[in-house]
Amino acid sequence: MAVIIRGLRDVYVTETRMSLVDGEAGRLIIGGWPVEAIAPNACYEEMLHVLWHDRLPNAAELKQLRQDITAQRALSPRTIEALRWAADKHLPPMDALRLGADTLCLEDPAPGDRDQATNLKRAIAIVARFPTIVATYWRLMNGQAPIAPTTDLGHAENFLYMLDGKKPHPEAARGLETYLNTVIDHGMNNSTFTARVIISTRTDMYSAIVGAVGAMKGPLHGGAPEPAMDMVFEIRDRAAQSGRSVAAEAEDWVRHTLSAGDRIMGFGHRVYKVRDPRCDVLGAVAGELLQRTGKGRLYEDARTIESAVLRLMEEHRPGRGIKTNVEFYTALVLHGVGLTPELFPSTFAISRVGGWTAHVFEQIAEDQLVRPQVAYVGSDNREWVPLEAR
Ligand code: CMC
Repeated sequence: MAVIIRGLRDVYVTETRMSLVDGEAGRLIIGGWPVEAIAPNACYEEMLHVLWHDRLPNAAELKQLRQDITAQRALSPRTIEALRWAADKHLPPMDALRLGADTLCLEDPAPGDRDQATNLKRAIAIVARFPTIVATYWRLMNGQAPIAPTTDLGHAENFLYMLDGKKPHPEAARGLETYLNTVIDHGMNNSTFTARVIISTRTDMYSAIVGAVGAMKGPLHGGAPEPAMDMVFEIRDRAAQSGRSVAAEAEDWVRHTLSAGDRIMGFGHRVYKVRDPRCDVLGAVAGELLQRTGKGRLYEDARTIESAVLRLMEEHRPGRGIKTNVEFYTALVLHGVGLTPELFPSTFAISRVGGWTAHVFEQIAEDQLVRPQVAYVGSDNREWVPLEAR
């Protein structure tokens, strides 16, 4: 009798040196460092070096990596043309990113060449161009001309610059960088697994990355921050209209949502049974960013709503350990940075693509085709009926 583990819950499929997700202790280690130690201190390029080469770069290596990335930021006219088509159709930014990511192979003289040095160059180009695709698409979608990437700004700063042509406030750039570092890798999450499954057939890196973007788009994975932010705004609006407190409106909203059997975005996790450690890293960033921009009240209201959700969730599903996940604070950080909720999932992808490429390298080194079994539950003795007799 086959043992079926639906959703591969708690199944270990391989080994990785990228990150450890300890769901019982609420601990996340990235490349050897606790997330609290590395994310607020590193730049995104250092995180890439850790994942790709298993150590921090020295000054010369970091300078070189930065140069290599900035040299690859610009998009080809063909990618921009594809994004124009997407803008004509008003595709959501994640669909445009998936489409744009696929066009990157057009600039590659041999997209199927799997040589390690070539794949590293390819990973640099993909990571470098993700922010440009997202920012270019956002401007085209809003009827604005794209802004060319800079060669002198860091990864996070350059992304914000390409959105509106203004050099961002240093705190906003640092806040976004801490976010990008915090979510760059997270164990065998669905999109990372997708990338590994795809590359395990010895196909090319573009196929794996495009598949991963498609997986991340779903509301149970990377699509949660937008509805989480909507929830906070909706509850605040209700309080403003009714004159009742945010706590009272949150209580009603959460009770109603849970009794309708709906999920509350930004809560619950497949692995964490205690608070997601990324919440504290991002909570601190969100608090500072929102205070600085005069939105301290929004932060307090969000904390009030979070408390109501946690209390009522425990009442609704006692002992299930459904806690706040990273997406709730992602929403607050990205709002504090000045991003609109429509851009939240693609900003997540701009970070996680670093993790995807690193896992692609690991899977190529492992060289094991991922091919599980399935238990057949259909009939096995049907009689064939010709078309004219049906
Ligand atoms: N709101 C309401 N009920 C919930 C929630 C939630 N956020 N999360 C879990 N539950 C319930 C769920 O309905 C289920 O009930 P039952 O056993 O009666 O069917 C029970 O709790 C266990 O949930 P589950 O679906 O078995 O848990 P899972 O491990 O499959 O799902 C999850 C994890 C993240 C998909 C889920 O908690 C969820 O849908 N959360 C909301 C979406 C969200 O915030 N996603 C971002 C995840 S974190 C980012 C990442 O790492 O990708």
